[in-house]
Amino acid sequence: MSESPPDRTTVDSLRADFRARLASASTDGAIKALGDQFLSRKSGTVTGLMKGLGALPPEARREFGALVNALKNEIETTLEERRSALAASRPPAGAVDVTLPGREPAVGRVHPLMQVRQQVEDVFARMGYEILEGPEVEDDFHNFEALNMPPDHPARDMQDTLYLDAPIVGSTWGIHRGLVPEAQVRAATLLRTHTSAMQIRYMKTFRPPIRIIVPGRVYRRDNLDLTHTPMFQQFEGLVVGEHVTMADLKGTFQAMLTALFGDVTIRLRPSFFPYTEPSAEVDISCHKCGGSGCGICKQTGWLEILGSGMVHPAVFEAVGYDPETVTGFAFGMGIERVAMLKYGVEDIRLFYENDLRFLEQFPSL
Ligand code: DAH
Repeated sequence: MSESPPDRTTVDSLRADFRARLASASTDGAIKALGDQFLSRKSGTVTGLMKGLGALPPEARREFGALVNALKNEIETTLEERRSALAASRPPAGAVDVTLPGREPAVGRVHPLMQVRQQVEDVFARMGYEILEGPEVEDDFHNFEALNMPPDHPARDMQDTLYLDAPIVGSTWGIHRGLVPEAQVRAATLLRTHTSAMQIRYMKTFRPPIRIIVPGRVYRRDNLDLTHTPMFQQFEGLVVGEHVTMADLKGTFQAMLTALFGDVTIRLRPSFFPYTEPSAEVDISCHKCGGSGCGICKQTGWLEILGSGMVHPAVFEAVGYDPETVTGFAFGMGIERVAMLKYGVEDIRLFYENDLRFLEQFPSL
C-alpha cells in the first residue's frame, strides 16, 4: 500500500472506484469485503492515504486531511446504510410467508379389505343382524367336531390346519361375559380354519331366533401364491328360527351381493359341507362382462362367491337345539376373494404388502 502523500486526484479516483463497486455489493459478505478494501486498518486504501498525511506540510495536511476524512465518512455511512437496507429487506426470523401454498397433510385411507368388510356389515346391520367376532385360537370341538366333522372325518382334509405346539387351556370367549360355564371350556389346540366355529359358540350360548354375522381372520397351512395366504379373512353368517327356508337364504344373498356388486344375478349350485344339508355354492353373474364371458370369469359368465346351506340337524343336536322345531341357513364368504373380484385384483398378496402405490388406488368410501 503506497503511503505517498495524498492529493485531490487520488481522493477523487478512490471515491469513484468506491461508488462503482458499491453497485454490486448486495450481500453482507460483499459489503464487508468492500469496507475492508477501503478501510481496513492494515491494508485499506483510504487508511493508506491517512497514513501518508503525516508526510505533508501542515497546510496541505489540514486541507487533504479533511478530504480524506470526508471520503472515509462517506464510505462508512454508505456501507452502513446499505447494510441496514439489506437487513430490512429480509423477512424477520421465524416469519411465516402466508402466500406460500399449504402443505397437504398425509391422510390415510381405509384398507380395501376393511372397505369390503364395512360394506358387508352395513348391509347386514340394516337387515337386523348382530355383528360379532370370535376367538382365532380355537379348540377341535368348535372348529370341527360340533360342525359334524368327528375325528377322521374326511372333510377335515378340505382345510389344512395349523395346530399349536402347546394347547392353551381355557379359551375365554364367553366366560368373561358370564355366558359359558367354566366346565364347558376346552383347551384350544389350533388356529381356526374358518369362522364357522363361531356358529357353535353362539348357538351354545344363545337360543333362537339368531341372526349373526361374524367377520374375522382364519388360518390354513397354505403357501403364498396368487390366490392363497396362510391367513385370510371370512364372513360367517348364521340365521336360525322357526320357519327359515332356502328362499330366505337366496333372498339374503341377493340383497347382499347386489349391495356389493351392483345389478347381478345369483345362482345356487349343489355342493357339500358336512355342516349343511343341502349345501350350495353361490355364484354371481360376472359383473365385468354381464355374463357373456371374459377373462375375470374365465369365459363362464359366472363367479363363485360363497359356500352355504341349510344348517345340518347334527349341528343343531351338538348345540342342544331341537332340529324338529328350528331350521336355519349358514354361509361363509372370503373377504379377500370378494375384494379381488370387486376391484379386479389378481394377486391376493397385494392386500398384505402395504405398498402405498397399491393402497392409494382405493379411495375411502
Ligand atoms: N366354512 C366354509 C369354508 O371355510 C364356508 C362355509 C360353507 C361356511 C358353508 C358355512 C356354510 O357356514 O354353511 O370354506
